[in-house]
Amino acid sequence: MKEGELDAREEALAAVAREAGERARRLFSNPSGVKLKGLQDFITAADGEVERLIIERLKARFPRDAFLGEEGGVQGSGDALWIIDPIDGTANFAYGIPHFCVSIGFLSGGEPLLGAVAAPMYDELYVARHGRGAFRNGRPIRVASVEIGQALIELGWSSRLPAKAYTALLERVLATGATFRRAGSGALGLAYVADGRNHGYCELHINSWDVAAALLLVREAGGWTNDFFAGDAIAHGNAVLACAPQLKEALVAATGVGQANDKLERRIS
Ligand code: IPD
Repeated sequence: MKEGELDAREEALAAVAREAGERARRLFSNPSGVKLKGLQDFITAADGEVERLIIERLKARFPRDAFLGEEGGVQGSGDALWIIDPIDGTANFAYGIPHFCVSIGFLSGGEPLLGAVAAPMYDELYVARHGRGAFRNGRPIRVASVEIGQALIELGWSSRLPAKAYTALLERVLATGATFRRAGSGALGLAYVADGRNHGYCELHINSWDVAAALLLVREAGGWTNDFFAGDAIAHGNAVLACAPQLKEALVAATGVGQANDKLERRIS
């Protein structure tokens, strides 16, 4: 993709992330249409409304681009792909907890080039562009410099994998000397790795719309991530590990994510 074409998308991305965040903020004060789409897997009317807003705005400017949204699936085809999670942290949103965000990533030729994560209840907008750094509200951010014994690792959970996979992961991470938390938004958990607020994030299966924007934030903030987009991760998800670089060795060994012979079956046994 030519520089000028990417400039146009970067500018549109920041504007639409702000607008979508503002819409989500308004809807948060009066959530409606809360339903379960699976075990502990929420959807609200706001998810659909915010996703339609984002796609409408981006399509008007880039009609030939393709879109993958958590709620609406795929629209269009081609090399330029926007991946959208309109509300990440939907359970928090539904319960009236302000820890949620809007996540929009842009990939060209399968490579993440732009990402924005808007956390409207905190007035925070994270943006990154490949090779140009990562920013919160316009200020550059960096991953933290702590060692494993002081590290705070966020562990994501969903009902997509058996509970024993999660408890085994938790035990192995605690054995490194790190502590953990689960705050319920994968995209924000990863953005916080980029911002030094978390020191790592691991989840044994997560969908591409949860990570498409934030993995770029982590890399652009000096962090390390596994090769999430290898294989069919855009359509079916993958394991994710992202951390400050000095924690990579300990966390790859503890989680198994990022090892050369890494296999999901092995990690959940
Ligand atoms: C979920 C959240 C959660 C993560 C799950 C996701 P949603 O997305 O990001 O933190 O652990 O894997 O499915 O349902 O809030 O959009």
